[in-house]
Amino acid sequence: MTKVKVRVPATTANMGPGFDTLGMALKLYNEIEVEEISGKTEIYNGGLRSEEDFRENLIYKSIVSAMNEQGYSYNGFKINVLKCDIPMSRGLGSSSACIVGGITAANAIMQNKMDMEDIIDLATKIEGHPDNVVPAALGGMVISIKVGEDIKHSKVNVPDKLKFVAMIPSFKVSTALSREVLPKSYLKEDCIFNTSRSAMLISALYNNEFDKLRICFEDKIHQPYRKGLIRNFDDVFKKSKDLGSIGEFISGSGSTLMAVVDKNAEKFVSSMKNFLNELEDTWKVILLDPDLQGARVLN
Ligand code: HSE
Repeated sequence: MTKVKVRVPATTANMGPGFDTLGMALKLYNEIEVEEISGKTEIYNGGLRSEEDFRENLIYKSIVSAMNEQGYSYNGFKINVLKCDIPMSRGLGSSSACIVGGITAANAIMQNKMDMEDIIDLATKIEGHPDNVVPAALGGMVISIKVGEDIKHSKVNVPDKLKFVAMIPSFKVSTALSREVLPKSYLKEDCIFNTSRSAMLISALYNNEFDKLRICFEDKIHQPYRKGLIRNFDDVFKKSKDLGSIGEFISGSGSTLMAVVDKNAEKFVSSMKNFLNELEDTWKVILLDPDLQGARVLN
């Protein structure tokens, strides 16, 4: 029976003002292997169970959703999580990686019955919003818009000089909780604040106007309400600016904080590590480039 191996990148969503709209794939990956079997589904994750179970289930649910949607009949699967470098519940798209990975594997088993738009629409339906799943599927930085049940998307060129520093704390923030803390409605001024910044963010990236990026990463739709869920948020943002970043934002719904740098990235990382080592929680710092490939079948 067919056995497929799929690699899916991490993603950083919102990117400041682009709530539920902007997202970018990063060179940090999960890999899964899926085989259709005649018996019951078996799930392996290097012997790990507990919290990993939920993610494995999301892979399984996504495989099954894709196959049901296409009217493909199946028995069970052997799902093997080969690599799990994307940390969970840290705002780096771990659930999107499971969803896009599961659908991509199912599609390969079904001899590519789904096209990319089918994959994106189904992944968004499972995830609820498109800003992680679309870049996870396509790679690069992407603007995604929901039009009824369909997703329209457009890629944004990210200048090569820009590097992304993920500062990942030991504590998690659940997407459900971080969506609950958001208000039901917003002032017109706050909407203008965000629409103006997300529009200029795209043109500033296009024109290499790095001096404008700091204001373009500002946001009044989600970050002011979520920062209370992330200990030392203000201290880390301030330190990042002092160390010469050109902007920072909460990655997705957190808890990861992302700094954008255009020079001396290695130095930034080592100074930031020293600073974070003094804080109450343990923080990991990873220097990342955008991934331009998106989800890939490897065999
Ligand atoms: N746009 C989503 C949010 C990303 O901020 O809630 C998290 O998955």
